[in-house]
Amino acid sequence: MTRDDSDPRETDETTRTDDERSRQTLPDGGAVNDVALDPWGSSTISDYRKLFEEFGIEEFDEVLPDVPNPHYLMRRGVIFGHRDYTPVADAMREGDDFAVLSGFMPTGAPHIGHKLVFDEIIWHQQQGGDAYGLIADLEAHSARGLSWEEIDEHARDYLLSLLALGFDPEEGELYRQSDNRTLQDLSFELGSKANFSEFQGIYGFDGETNVSHMQSVVTQMGDILYPQLEEPKPTVIPVGPDQDPHVRFARDLAARMRFFKVTEAYASFELADVERPIVAAAYEAREAFAEDPETPRCGEAAEWLDEAGRTQVDISALAAGENALSTAVEKLENAGMEPLRPRVRFLDANATDDAFEDLIASIDGEKRRYDEHIDAFDLSVSDAETLAREVELDNGGYGFLPPSSIYHRFMTGLTGGKMSSSIPASHISLLDDPEEGYDKVKSATTGGRETAEKQRELGGKADECPVYELYAYLLSGDDDEFAKRVYDECVGGERLCGGCKEQAAVLMEEFLEDHQEKREEAEAMLDDIDISLESDRRGVAPGDD
Ligand code: TRP
Ligand code: SF4
Repeated sequence: MTRDDSDPRETDETTRTDDERSRQTLPDGGAVNDVALDPWGSSTISDYRKLFEEFGIEEFDEVLPDVPNPHYLMRRGVIFGHRDYTPVADAMREGDDFAVLSGFMPTGAPHIGHKLVFDEIIWHQQQGGDAYGLIADLEAHSARGLSWEEIDEHARDYLLSLLALGFDPEEGELYRQSDNRTLQDLSFELGSKANFSEFQGIYGFDGETNVSHMQSVVTQMGDILYPQLEEPKPTVIPVGPDQDPHVRFARDLAARMRFFKVTEAYASFELADVERPIVAAAYEAREAFAEDPETPRCGEAAEWLDEAGRTQVDISALAAGENALSTAVEKLENAGMEPLRPRVRFLDANATDDAFEDLIASIDGEKRRYDEHIDAFDLSVSDAETLAREVELDNGGYGFLPPSSIYHRFMTGLTGGKMSSSIPASHISLLDDPEEGYDKVKSATTGGRETAEKQRELGGKADECPVYELYAYLLSGDDDEFAKRVYDECVGGERLCGGCKEQAAVLMEEFLEDHQEKREEAEAMLDDIDISLESDRRGVAPGDD
């Protein structure tokens, strides 16, 4: 393998959009690995600007205040981004159901990068979430070319480490993609909403891509929605940002599976999302133009918008651009004398006839029925959403909520550059001999100055130091003060690299000893879990594609 497979998700080379490919920022952490590390958060968050600006990942700091007892990886900005984490945080605070799920490709031994994800799953489980950990063996076989023998061996190692770190298998679920029939059935259904040109666009698949690899993508979509099979619930997927294309796709598919789409409308015609605020603004201003403000007419609104245009309508409503204004005006004009009147609309996306009838019967208040949609005049959007989901569930649908995600920074390799499974000295495996772990830390590169004198004078560059990262991501555990002390002493010139590395090396050795002891204890637990670690699958791996 030549590509970087920095932790902890071993990046699938193909999981990038064309957009990402051309900008070469993601998804294998290239840009991410180049940035300086500031475990205390916001000050270097701008280094991740591309992820925010170009891909729409949101800053984790913005939801942090809503998270009860945030994990240290959250407090230190190691978890830097998210998509739609608010419903998960809300559920956590309010004691509602929520879930966490992540998956691991068993392509090698688990290392300290994977530990971040293990910890994220376990923490959410401890906060009351339904927790899922899965072995992405179909992906490892079809996309990475691993044999079933290799996969079995590594699968065991991932599971043992996850258990050793505190995953509760009685409360949570562990599975392999290959032997989870329920998962495969779900994936099959999701696959019916995905087509090849999307695979091309999102992942760069082409005519040479093997079909099982494509199936493994659909399987991952199934994984991501699996926690919602019994009932819809906020679900967080902790991953590296390289997995974001998968998350986006899963969010799309979740929406495409829904029976009804709930939107806001103002008349019989459909509005695009960019047009809606403009028409809403006109409705708000109806006193200004309607002959009878009780019944403003679409045509009147069109005229007013046309004249008043930019000056009257809230600038934010126009932010979407000129075009939205003129298309909105055109639609209103065409509707002429039709009253302009707000309503929620249920669009029939996939509903069965029975579900459609059922929905009509369940709507309270004034309603109007059309061929492909129903308008309700006395419902709020959120009540409409709830109703649509209930009717869907009663009629055999899934009612999925769009899954959420959180993203953590990639660790820098101990040798500088990227942490990579294929460069043993760059990472510490959770299976490394504790002494070997000690040695690797001792020979790590640092952010230190050339001489002790300079270091005392200028201070070390903790932000560029892989050893400091070890303290912040792992060795300090929950002890923020300790991590901060190391940082302050380093940049203040009181700490010299020799002693600092010795301390880190000893802590690493202790961590590995302890972890490996716990792994042995976890063996018994693993035996009790209903998961086969001797796959009877056959078939030669297709090679890396
Ligand atoms: N594709 C992930 C990886 O490369 C593994 C994976 C499979 C996964 N299914 C998942 C991750 C579901 C998160 C959620 O490591
Ligand atoms: Fe890194 Fe420690 Fe040296 Fe600072 S003192 S540069 S944290 S090794």
